[in-house]
Order: sequence, then structure tokens, then C-alpha cells
Amino acid sequence: MSRVLPGERYSLPARLLHWLMAPAIPLQFWLAWAAERAQPRDAGERLIQLHYQFGLLLAALVVMRLAWRVAHGAPHAMPDEPLWRRQAAQFTHWALYAALLVLPTTGYAMWVWRNEPMQVLGLFEMPRLFESDGDLGAGYAAVWYLHYWTGWSMAGLVALHVAAALWHQCVLRDGLIGRRM
Ligand code: HEM
Ligand code: HEM
Repeated sequence: MSRVLPGERYSLPARLLHWLMAPAIPLQFWLAWAAERAQPRDAGERLIQLHYQFGLLLAALVVMRLAWRVAHGAPHAMPDEPLWRRQAAQFTHWALYAALLVLPTTGYAMWVWRNEPMQVLGLFEMPRLFESDGDLGAGYAAVWYLHYWTGWSMAGLVALHVAAALWHQCVLRDGLIGRRM
């Protein structure tokens, strides 16, 4: 969906949401990674609680971002961009959006399954959309793997995405990052 004129930049809300999320996502990875390895376990508990809440905040941002994207489209590809690079960029962008929807959904399901508390910003208890008997068997393990592998595959896509942006900036020097500034 590309309703923006060629050469035009992303709109201000799209740019704000992109740059708000860009540093937040590595932080979210760090919270999960550190929570699993923290000693003593209390510290791990505090970190995973932050991972839950921060993840749900990211979910709200990605929903806003997708709604804006669907309604307003994106600028056309750079004029000299070959087809394979346009397709690779499209694939990467939509895969990033998909991962950003799968992660909070599977994360939320794991949280309900584990019967853990979650005070949203210390104000209210997060609602539970299904009941759990606390049995963390095969079903939970499947969701855990989906979350884990979606997470680390997304990290690979982000690395590819950032490398492509820097390559445009430093090697092709076509001002692509300017569309995001
Ligand atoms: C953009 C959002 C998210 C990202 C990028 C993300 C990423 C990750 C990653 C990479 C791991 C595995 C860490 C490791 O290597 O051990 C993980 C674990 C986990 N995440 Fe998330 N996550 C997100 C959202 C959420 C949300 C919203 C929740 C819950 C409401 C959640 C709950 C969990 C749980 C329960 C684990 C497993 C911890 C354990 O094994 O004890 N995540 N997450
Ligand atoms: C976790 C971090 C990041 C995520 C999840 C992310 C995600 C995305 C997504 C989904 C798009 C496509 C927007 C659309 O058309 O709907 C995009 C575009 C873009 N991103 Fe990122 N991004 C991240 C970090 C970065 C960084 C660090 C840079 C710069 C070094 C960057 C540079 C760009 C540029 C230049 C575009 C526009 C590409 C174009 O006009 O074709 N991004 N990003």
C-alpha cells in the first residue's frame, strides 16, 4: 500500500513511532536475557516483570504503527532500487511487523499459563483472557519455543535491516535514512 508520493518522507507519527521503538526493542531483549540469568532469583523476577510490562507497551505501539501504516501507506521505493532489493526490504519490514505481533501474543499466553501476577504500572492487575491450571507441559513448551525463536529470528532481521540502512547511508549515499528522520 503506497499512497505517499515518490521522494516523500514517512509522516511524523510513523517516524516518531519508528524511533521510539528502535532503542526500546534491544532493551526488551536484554530484559528477557538478563532475567533468565540473574542471581539472586528475586532480581530475575523483577526483570521478567519489567519484560512483561514493557512488552505490552511495545504491543500497543506496534498496533498504532500498523494501523497508521495501513491507513497512510509508505513512500515509494528509492528510484534506482532494483526489484530484488525492493522485495527484500518489503519482506523484512512485514516480517518485523509480524514478529512484533507474535511476540506479545505468545508472551501474554505464557504469562497467563504461569499464573504470575502483573500490576500494570502499579495501577491494576492485568486481565487474563483464559484460565490456567498451572501445568507447564507440552502446550506451554510449544508457545515458549515460538516466542524464543521468533524473538531471536527477529534479532537477525533487525541486524539485516540496520546493516541495509547503513549501507544505503554510507556506501550508496542515497539519503534513504532521511526518509525516516
Ligand atoms: C516485542 C516484544 C517482546 C520481545 C522482543 C521478547 C523477546 C523475548 C526473548 C528473546 C526471550 C528469550 C530470552 C532468552 O534468550 O532466554 C523472551 C522470553 C520470555 N518472554 Fe518475551 N518478548 C516480548 C514480549 C513479551 C511479553 C509481552 C511477555 C508477557 C506478557 C513476554 C514473556 C516472556 C516470557 C514468560 C519469557 C520466558 C522466560 C523464561 O523462560 O523463564 N515477552 N522474550
Ligand atoms: C529494533 C529496531 C528496528 C525495527 C523493529 C525497525 C522496523 C522498521 C520497519 C517495520 C520499517 C518499515 C516501515 C514501513 O514501511 O511500514 C522500517 C523502515 C526503516 N528503518 Fe527501521 N527499524 C529498526 C531500527 C532501525 C535503525 C537503527 C535504522 C537506521 C540505522 C533504521 C532505518 C530505517 C529506514 C531508513 C527505514 C525506511 C526504509 C525505506 O524508506 O524504504 N531502522 N524500520
